[in-house]
Amino acid sequence: MPAQKTLSIIKPDAVASRVIGQIIARFEQNGLELLRAELRSIDRDTAKAFYAEHAEKPFFGELIDYITSGPAVVAVVAGEDAVALHRKLMGATNPKDAEPGTIRADFAKSLTENAIHGSDSVESAKREIAIFFPAAAKEEGFLDF
Ligand code: RTP
Ligand code: MG
Repeated sequence: MPAQKTLSIIKPDAVASRVIGQIIARFEQNGLELLRAELRSIDRDTAKAFYAEHAEKPFFGELIDYITSGPAVVAVVAGEDAVALHRKLMGATNPKDAEPGTIRADFAKSLTENAIHGSDSVESAKREIAIFFPAAAKEEGFLDF
């Protein structure tokens, strides 16, 4: 079975704080590798499709405004148990609840500006990779994990 993949986004607050390198170093130090990575401003339509599960939530507008507010690093990260391992490295959604030493504890500014996204399941990873890297998703075997 090929290594598992997950969709990682270093969000606009972390890019603005110039901690891209420190975050990617944590992936690499923990056995994960970058297969794709791109600095890009996410457009509103893509953001709405990506966060569709939250469309009815009261914070949806704020979430879309924020994730489209500036450049983000969108990446495919791979390794054994990549989805769960990447989530563990991120820490809890609200940085106030995040374990010390996690990316959100160390770099997030608030519940909204929380530094990083990671897919929450293998199924989500496949859906999210196809949204952000449609060409890669069409490569033979890329989504076989
Ligand atoms: P993400 O999808 O960004 O990786 O974060 P997550 O899985 O840890 O959290 P999720 O429940 O999917 O929420 C997505 C993002 O919405 C913002 N949020 N705001 N105001 C609120 O109550 C609230 N709750 C969630 C967070 O920025 C979260 O990352
Ligand atoms: Mg989520």
